[in-house]
Amino acid sequence: MDDPLIYARAVHFAATITVVGAVFFIVFVAEPAFRRAGHDARLPALMRPCLAWIAWIGLVVAVLSGAAWLVLVAQSMSDSSLTEVFSQDILWVVLTQTGFGRDWLERFVIACLLAALFACFLSARRGKPLWIKTAAVVLAAALVGSLARAGHAVGGGGFEGIVHPAADVLHLIAAAAWVGMLLPLALVLAAAGRDAASLDIARAATVRFSTLGIASVATLLVTGSVNTWYLAGSISALADTDYGHLLLSKVALFLAMVAIAAINRLLLTPRLVQDDSVAATRGALRQLRRNSVIEVAVGATIIAIVAVLGVTPPGLHEGMMTPHAHHSH
Ligand code: HEM
Repeated sequence: MDDPLIYARAVHFAATITVVGAVFFIVFVAEPAFRRAGHDARLPALMRPCLAWIAWIGLVVAVLSGAAWLVLVAQSMSDSSLTEVFSQDILWVVLTQTGFGRDWLERFVIACLLAALFACFLSARRGKPLWIKTAAVVLAAALVGSLARAGHAVGGGGFEGIVHPAADVLHLIAAAAWVGMLLPLALVLAAAGRDAASLDIARAATVRFSTLGIASVATLLVTGSVNTWYLAGSISALADTDYGHLLLSKVALFLAMVAIAAINRLLLTPRLVQDDSVAATRGALRQLRRNSVIEVAVGATIIAIVAVLGVTPPGLHEGMMTPHAHHSH
């Protein structure tokens, strides 16, 4: 666990999932929910700068942790010290002459394009042009999906060489669409409830998030199973390897999150949207707030496990060298 690469990966995954989750939340949940409230609603004016800050901080931390990841990979590729990495042209060689470097440059360009778009996309002005929202969603999905190239999903041949990376890209986008949208949702629920308009927004946001959540959870389960099949697809690979144990603990946390989400959807959301009892509505809002914070914490733990999984030899390959061992950086 003392490998600094694990920490660089964990921070990078978390920051990337945070910025992409914020973009998805603004387009698919917040702005549609804000539209329900009148022009003088307090909550949109309060939340828009908050969501902008989450997106900007996420993007800056993603770029900085990505730079740390690059330096650590350059160091391990060239087996040189940190000083040598900066004093010699090692970084330039890694950037221009390795697959990892080229992928890194592509993702850096995507991050710069997203930053340029944020100037307009994150402005406090209501109603953004459709092309700006579409471009933000596509660039955000590309930023998180392209992480698949640094993982264990690449390296297979034939059918596996297509299906596995494709599943991993969808897995990453679904992870951002669920775990990445939890923090902004928790903030909206925390700020809502003092007036009827904000309660209305909380209702609309919760229902929209929950519906999108079902699609994300289903995608995570299917694409996670594909990942598992190619990387730890046997009982012994799951039960007898470090990789398998990490993956099983990740799936256990995932199931805990799904259980909380089911309570939110089946019990608390109906109580939040009903109009009969204000006390029941406020109680449901309080519980949904608490549950979304718990889910953020469990989601962060899953991302930490993923950071370790990515540098651990896959369960199916532990102790045996295969023709196309899945390598990751
Ligand atoms: C909240 C739920 C989940 C989140 C946030 C999540 C997130 C992630 C992320 C960020 C990666 C890294 C992808 C890469 O480096 O290429 C990953 C990989 C993976 N995920 Fe998930 N995942 C979730 C649920 C699941 C589930 C339910 C399964 C199994 C059914 C699963 C199985 C895997 C496997 C096997 C990998 C490959 C790890 C590696 O070797 O690099 N995940 N996941």
